[in-house]
Amino acid sequence: MKGIILAGGTGSRLFPLTKVTNKHLLPVGRVPMIYHPLQKLLDAGIREILVVTGTEHMGAVVSLLGSGRELDCDITYRVQDEAGGIAQALALAENFCHREPMTVLLGDNVFEDGIGSGVAAFAAQRGGARIFLKEVPNPNRFGVAELDGDRVVGIEEKPARPKSAYAVCGVYIYDAGVFEIIRTLRPSGRGELEITDVNNAYIARGELQYELLTGWWTDAGTFDSLRRAQSLVESLAEGGDA
Ligand code: DAU
Repeated sequence: MKGIILAGGTGSRLFPLTKVTNKHLLPVGRVPMIYHPLQKLLDAGIREILVVTGTEHMGAVVSLLGSGRELDCDITYRVQDEAGGIAQALALAENFCHREPMTVLLGDNVFEDGIGSGVAAFAAQRGGARIFLKEVPNPNRFGVAELDGDRVVGIEEKPARPKSAYAVCGVYIYDAGVFEIIRTLRPSGRGELEITDVNNAYIARGELQYELLTGWWTDAGTFDSLRRAQSLVESLAEGGDA
């Protein structure tokens, strides 16, 4: 199992905090945001990790994480030349993955649960895709899953009228078939290759399974959600000096 952290994009919703630095280097708790998804991979025993980011701040990201030696992992880097979408960023991981499955985390997702059990469940499901859902009060900000019993029957990206309250979290596990799927995608209305289209392709093949996150979950890509991420991480650290 390989690990991938997608930390590209423009961070435009956090401007001017992101004028001279990468969103994923902003503090969340006592560490830069990107440490949170990185720690989730490490806790799940994933040690070969690819970080994808844009041209502007790659130097700062490499200065922060280095080879991974201090964290007892191997970190590889790839540059996404422009913010063409999450699926475009993931496509850059094809050679790194060597046909192995991968756990993909969005660099601005901060959450409480471990992902080790999800990784183990993926191993038992014989390929395909596994996604993670969380019930939220504002689903229209996210990819939203339509559920029928224990199946996801469709996902809509930022729908005006969400078909459920279940947001698709920025945690995805895929087999190596994901790269074939990405090659078939066309840019969406916002000009991006969408991860939601990837997940819908797996649904069409009958190869997507899901689980619910039970602890808190947030992204940290807007001023409100960044503040929320800060306070959730601080509440977790309360009582200790973590
Ligand atoms: O946070 C979960 C949500 O993330 C999902 O529910 C949505 O389905 C998914 O599309 C995504 O929505 P956002 O619009 O919030 O994604 P955003 O553009 O903020 O990008 C999230 C992360 O993905 C960002 O921190 C870095 C990475 N990214 C994004 C883009 C557009 C890249 O690495 N490259 C990119 O080109």
